[in-house]
Amino acid sequence: MNFNSDERTFDCEPTLSDFKVLEFCREGHLMLPGVVPDEINRRTCDYLEGKIPANPSWVPEGMSEEDLVRIRGSHEPSTIFLEDWFVEHVLLNPQLVGAIRSLLGRYVGLPVLVSHHGVECPAEAQGWHHDADHVFGPELNFVEVFYFPQDTPIELGPTEIVPSSHIRNSRGSEPTNIVTSDGPAGTLGIHHQSIMHRRGASTASGLRHMLKYSYWRSVPPERDWIKDPDFDPRTAYFGGHTLARYAAHMYYWLCGRGDDFRVIGGQGWPWRTENQIGPSYGFGVKKGYLPDWRGDHDDGYAR
Ligand SMILES: [Fe+2]
Repeated sequence: MNFNSDERTFDCEPTLSDFKVLEFCREGHLMLPGVVPDEINRRTCDYLEGKIPANPSWVPEGMSEEDLVRIRGSHEPSTIFLEDWFVEHVLLNPQLVGAIRSLLGRYVGLPVLVSHHGVECPAEAQGWHHDADHVFGPELNFVEVFYFPQDTPIELGPTEIVPSSHIRNSRGSEPTNIVTSDGPAGTLGIHHQSIMHRRGASTASGLRHMLKYSYWRSVPPERDWIKDPDFDPRTAYFGGHTLARYAAHMYYWLCGRGDDFRVIGGQGWPWRTENQIGPSYGFGVKKGYLPDWRGDHDDGYAR
């Protein structure tokens, strides 16, 4: 792993294969349960609760000691990114960076802002929502990470996610398919920022911390993750009706081929089932339609 502390970027070997990258395009999330060491989880909780002194490894240009104190005490305590131990074990977590690098390419930009979701449990569930300023589109210029520094069983109200809801506005519909991000202390979740989610209802007592922040792309997309010899885009599973065209468009954008992408609709590629006797028609067409990411057309296609 190569960390440039001046630029605040990292580079490393990608760890996701084509199938996993496509899974992210299709589902919009990946979970890494319990990957941060216990000692770091404890130190994170102590930092957030003001139980240990700050020890910034550097001070951002133009900021004073008072600024750092104010930021640490806010709901966006981004000064935690100035702590060496947090950078090494959380931001540059060895099991996380390969996945982020696979999705965002080389020289990934580290987060500059953290949101601290500290909740005194028990608490009601939040309403389902897409986070502010989300974008629906094939581009993946940033991904969001959730970090739970304490054991977060269902009783402590972990984030609930609606898989595949990152492609269009899903507000107003009660989701039937939900994934909960419960897990042991040190669980990291990688999400598409547009995915619909909420804080789940909690029944236990205690303080639940969750930190949320985004990593940023700095290079154009290309297919430089792990190439799987068994992966064939002609027959890969991009999802069911109304999903496959969006997941495929995102996958093609990640491969650097977003401008080539067209579909012909119906049972044509990228839709397919396991009961076909041959590959779907329409793979590689030059003329056709784009998925309607803006939601302007009832049939879900745009020119
Ligand atoms: Fe949210």
